[in-house]
Amino acid sequence: MNPESTIYNCCVIELNKIHNRSGNITTVEENLNIPFNIERVYYLYDVPSGVERGGHAHKELQQLIVAASGCFDVVLDDGKNKKVIELNRPNYGLLVVPGIWRELINFSSGAICLVLASQKYKVTDYIREHNDFLKFKKI
Ligand code: TYD
Repeated sequence: MNPESTIYNCCVIELNKIHNRSGNITTVEENLNIPFNIERVYYLYDVPSGVERGGHAHKELQQLIVAASGCFDVVLDDGKNKKVIELNRPNYGLLVVPGIWRELINFSSGAICLVLASQKYKVTDYIREHNDFLKFKKI
């Protein structure tokens, strides 16, 4: 549980890029370039134009969100402040700490949103109503 987290605890992490004439490789290693163990990986793709994803917060889950292809915006909201992060490079990831409301918008055609998550899928970890989120944040 992290009701005290703010959007300023979320940050964009520059990942490595191993480059040669035949392309690039980026690696993510738990507890090395991200501060949690990776329990789950999922990815969003074929997102229709104009559709918004997310629209929830997590009580405990930490995530690294990467635009593996294309681009999209992540709106972060801690109940008091909001900021929009554009993700558009596969070697940058947005670390989202627990207790942050997030929305994913403006998906480009062919965008792939890769998410590395610190826990297995757990329905009870989700806060899906913004009013419940504000109560959780004690606002
Ligand atoms: P949801 O988290 O609502 O998607 P988003 O926040 O990207 O809009 O998940 C959509 C559906 O997928 C929902 O029925 C739950 C299911 N789901 C799983 O079963 N396992 C998972 O790891 C994830 C992320 C979602």
